[in-house]
Amino acid sequence: MTRRTLKLGAVLLGVGGPGQHATWLNPEIPPDASVDVRWYIARAQEAEAALFDHVFIVDSQFITADSPNHYLSRLEPLTLLSAIAVHTSHIGLVGTITTSYNEPFNVARRLASLDHISGGRAGWNVVTSGDAGTAGNYSRESHFDYATRYGRALEHVRVAQGLWDSYEADAFPRDRGRGEFFDRSRQHTLDHRGEYFSVVGPLNLERSPQGQPVIFQAGDSEEGRDLGASIAEAIFTHAQNLEQAKAFRTELRARAAAKGRDPEHLLIVPGIFPIIADTDEQARAKEAAGRGERSFERALAELGRPFGWHDFSQYDLDAPFPEVGDAGELSFRTQAEAIKTSARENNLTLRQVVQAQLDVFRSPFVGSPRTVADAIQHWFEQGGFDGINIMVNAPSEFARFTEGVLPILRERGVVRSEYESTTLRGNLGLPIPENRHTAARHTADRHQPAQAPADATADATTVATERAPVALVS
Ligand SMILES: Cc1cc2nc3c(=O)[nH]c(=O)nc-3n(C[C@H](O)[C@H](O)[C@H](O)COP(=O)(O)O)c2cc1C
Repeated sequence: MTRRTLKLGAVLLGVGGPGQHATWLNPEIPPDASVDVRWYIARAQEAEAALFDHVFIVDSQFITADSPNHYLSRLEPLTLLSAIAVHTSHIGLVGTITTSYNEPFNVARRLASLDHISGGRAGWNVVTSGDAGTAGNYSRESHFDYATRYGRALEHVRVAQGLWDSYEADAFPRDRGRGEFFDRSRQHTLDHRGEYFSVVGPLNLERSPQGQPVIFQAGDSEEGRDLGASIAEAIFTHAQNLEQAKAFRTELRARAAAKGRDPEHLLIVPGIFPIIADTDEQARAKEAAGRGERSFERALAELGRPFGWHDFSQYDLDAPFPEVGDAGELSFRTQAEAIKTSARENNLTLRQVVQAQLDVFRSPFVGSPRTVADAIQHWFEQGGFDGINIMVNAPSEFARFTEGVLPILRERGVVRSEYESTTLRGNLGLPIPENRHTAARHTADRHQPAQAPADATADATTVATERAPVALVS
């Protein structure tokens, strides 16, 4: 099988995510970029012009005064993506939605709506919410423990997928001549009764162009990886170095295969922050200058986030990293454990841990366009990733990537030269899931050879045909 081209996502981060303390001061970025729909639409159009697969919206529902600037005031992902949808025509629209504080019926309905509105470009980044404080915004005393969080997540996605099969592709003939609006035999209830959810169905929305929006997932614990291997078609992750990236991809593909899935239907797509200048030296200088723009005090406060916003300012900076008990146990546990382990193994003080956190933003992709293109190609060919999610702040920096790096990769055949499809599934090379009821009927038909031939319009391959996008390009 010929390998796919490298997949490209653009994570739109307005006035700056974690560690990006000075982003909002950049005169190129409107100071209210995180709530300016025009800013997002313009970035999405640039990404589409560069033939990106998708834009990606991260999200959370709990903030403190110490949260990153972009997180303090930002638009709700699916509302935002619906607006972007009508100003673009090919680019995928991936929104982060937590399974911990949503009901599957709402999520299934909103995502299927986005899939209809965009002509088949919706994606769902499934998360369980790292911020433990979110519980207080959803009538709960505390965040779910890990087993509940991920058990709920798996059932949540399965229920949503069941609801997306409520209608078969040919459920709505809308035939005025015959007086047939819809075919009752093609509408199905779900009647789900599980550990966390009871959902009768059917969903009040017909099958969407992709059948099911593409499932992304982010969460790195043992439980998170198991969930990803079960349900994800793409995984959003980190990549510090090639060895670690390869190990992660190999592990997740093996886990998916062990669950009976085709590993080719699971794409690993880490977030990366390329730093590009005319020469390697200039890029290194730019990286150093960027590090200098980060505030130690902000980083000290942000260190609290994976630990459930533990207040680290109370400790002596030059004493050994403090004992914080089970802070983080219900929050970003994997990240908190990694920080604690590194501090213990390397005998680090609190100051050194904060410094190391600032250095975490050191990018493996720094240099001239050719150097960065070489590195990306090398990682891709070595099996470090199937795609990359580029963190986007300043348009001129994004242009350095699209106008400097991408033409080199395009010439080498690493990235596409034109969109293959108008759907996200089509561009990512992912199959359209067959409607379970259609499939069951086909199976039944095969076992009854004497019966009339199956309805041709119910064939799953016809489900896979793409509709013209509804989107308007402005
Ligand atoms: C690369 C990456 C991106 C994530 N993005 C989000 C996000 O946008 N919103 C969110 O609520 N959680 C996000 N998460 C957190 C997960 O929801 C998860 O709850 C958290 O990482 C703790 O689980 P874990 O220990 O399994 O990683 C992200 C996690 C990773 C690894």
